[in-house]
Amino acid sequence: MNERDSEAVAAQLCAKGYTMAPSENHADVVLLNTCSVRDQAEQKALGKMQNLAVTLKRNRPDVVLGFMGCMAQSRGKSLVDQLPDVDLVLGTQKFHHAPEYIDDLVHGRKQQIVDTDEEQGSEATIKEHLLKGNTEKSSVTAFVSIMQGCNQYCTFCIVPYTRGKERSRSIEEIVLECQQLVDRGVREITLLGQIVNSYGKREIGMKDGKSAFVQLLDAVHQIEDLERIRFTSPHPKGYGDDLIEAYGRLPKLCPSAHIPVQSGSNRLLKRMHRVYTRERFLEIIHKLRKVNPQIGLTTDIIVGFPGETEEDFQATMSLAEEVGFDNAFVFKYSQRTGTPASEMDGQIPKEIIESRHAILLKRITEIGRKRYEQFLNREVEILVEGPSRRNSERLEGRTGCNKIVVFEGNKQRHQGQLLKLNIERTGSFTLYGDPAILNVNDPLPTC
Ligand code: 5AD
Repeated sequence: MNERDSEAVAAQLCAKGYTMAPSENHADVVLLNTCSVRDQAEQKALGKMQNLAVTLKRNRPDVVLGFMGCMAQSRGKSLVDQLPDVDLVLGTQKFHHAPEYIDDLVHGRKQQIVDTDEEQGSEATIKEHLLKGNTEKSSVTAFVSIMQGCNQYCTFCIVPYTRGKERSRSIEEIVLECQQLVDRGVREITLLGQIVNSYGKREIGMKDGKSAFVQLLDAVHQIEDLERIRFTSPHPKGYGDDLIEAYGRLPKLCPSAHIPVQSGSNRLLKRMHRVYTRERFLEIIHKLRKVNPQIGLTTDIIVGFPGETEEDFQATMSLAEEVGFDNAFVFKYSQRTGTPASEMDGQIPKEIIESRHAILLKRITEIGRKRYEQFLNREVEILVEGPSRRNSERLEGRTGCNKIVVFEGNKQRHQGQLLKLNIERTGSFTLYGDPAILNVNDPLPTC
């Protein structure tokens, strides 16, 4: 989501005549987009800005430095008090004002701007895209922001305080943005929101037994030449049968789901205000696998939430085993000021959090490795996205179930193509494929 916000602001600035600098050392304006979900991310952003103040601003006093995003929102003016070299603090409902504010700062009309107010309609302002490769082939995949904010108030989470109340864009506007992306060559779209399956609950509501989110999926699905649809992240509470059934009904909807579970202990789920139980989560997984046994499943888990006993932790370990996730993000609980959990009894010592994190991560990696190994000598279909992130000599794409596949290919020929490959090697959360040796005798359905 933050990447998407950064992209939209960069695109708005480019539309105003600014160009992207090759590095911060060449830039006249440096904006740091910030995440507040964990303290570590905040400390990193503060350190980075201190560094920019010394390395850039000392030599070039006219350089404009700014914070945007969640930390800008939650810390506001205190950021310029702490770091006087900062010229701009742009809250999460104000991204679209970046061009006008930066113009004012660059031309000396204002010395410093802090704007963290709420703004009605701001959910519909993250819509510009920077599609790479204007002379070559355009980007194959794109993210589309469908809503802003969150009303769930999980007790560990700072997001409702930094991103505001849940507000959804209209289906028409989202479809229009998706259509324009497809017209520019995009073939896969990921719909983005804090809790995507809460989309339009208030503004649109249910129709013919379908939630607003499923109505949106139906509408996006109708876009011709769009090959694939994904979304992230849903909340288990909204994983109704209409959404589960959509996987069987909509061929463009990729067989993959990232469903944050956070904990396997009912006691902790309650303390976290997650409003589902372990049993309900397992039921969703069971139903999804019934619709498509090949579905890729990933999750987020927090270890060391206040009050987490060894028994609670073991419940999370056993849930991870029982589901057999393809992968999971395992987070160490981070105390966020202003959230109910930060005031709870039973804050867990750092060493225990570290040790539980290491144990769970190891197990998640082992489970994931086994699941990846099952792809050996199987045929998969990928959408080729472009050069591999690790080795630009090779290409990469993803299967429908969201596994990265790296292969020797030809960018001009393969980028943007749906390609069948034989998996000849599996690594840590990566598959390696060869388009030349398809094993025709192996009938495993593509996934
Ligand atoms: N500490 C650790 N992890 C957190 N997350 C959210 N808040 C916290 C916190 N205070 C994790 C959750 C969420 C993901 C985006 O970040 O697992 O799903």
